[in-house]
Amino acid sequence: MRKQIAAANWKMNLTAQQAENLMNELVALPHQLYEHQQAIFAVPFPYLQMIEQKLHGKQNVFVAAQNCYYKKNGAFTGEVSVEMLQSININHVIIGHSERREYFNETNEVLALKVNHCLENNVTPIFCCGEPLAVRESNTQESFVAKQLDESLFHLSAEQIIKVVIAYEPIWAIGTGKTATSEQAQDIHLFIRNHIAAKYSERIANEISILYGGSVKAANAKEIFSQPDVDGGLVGGAALNAQEFNTIINSLK
Ligand code: 13P
Repeated sequence: MRKQIAAANWKMNLTAQQAENLMNELVALPHQLYEHQQAIFAVPFPYLQMIEQKLHGKQNVFVAAQNCYYKKNGAFTGEVSVEMLQSININHVIIGHSERREYFNETNEVLALKVNHCLENNVTPIFCCGEPLAVRESNTQESFVAKQLDESLFHLSAEQIIKVVIAYEPIWAIGTGKTATSEQAQDIHLFIRNHIAAKYSERIANEISILYGGSVKAANAKEIFSQPDVDGGLVGGAALNAQEFNTIINSLK
């Protein structure tokens, strides 16, 4: 059974003290994660170890990095390798967030290298895809997202792709307060699943978690997550509030 996942993406927010306070507040709130559910916290690099130590040993809870480089080590000033992350017990990484594609020029080709490097090291990539507003307005989001998947994931073997978590995040819904309707989310999630099934198999497609991201909050999480092909969410702004994110965790199906 594929996992239902509430993933927080803190982006470039919070001081160390604020991060610690947020996590202290959150762990004190009532939530229950069943066997098939996970909570993942993608926090800024400097806080990975602190947050990992705070959550260490909690069932179905993981800490993720928001990015990594695709080389093992070497003269790459400012970059962080998968091996470094693993050495501090970090086994999940967001790959290809739209902000990295847009502001740091990450291409589908570079993201394929990053995905490879994660999988070679048994680190789970949370691979982001999703279209800008102009593409949605021209109703070509399916071919746009298909190209992202084809060029960054579809070179993988079935054994590899089954280990990837996909996050569909329409750029026009990120940080805008404008959420995709649950029907829009379901439509494109089903498209993504069918696209994977056509390349691999229905069995493989049914094992892959596909998260929705873009203005998910406590008030809309349950409705969006209830869609059959939506397996939870990747949450930005609302994940910076303990009560909000706790409600989102409790909205997983
Ligand atoms: P918001 O939830 O703030 O719209 O951000 C979504 C996102 O980009 C998560 O990665």
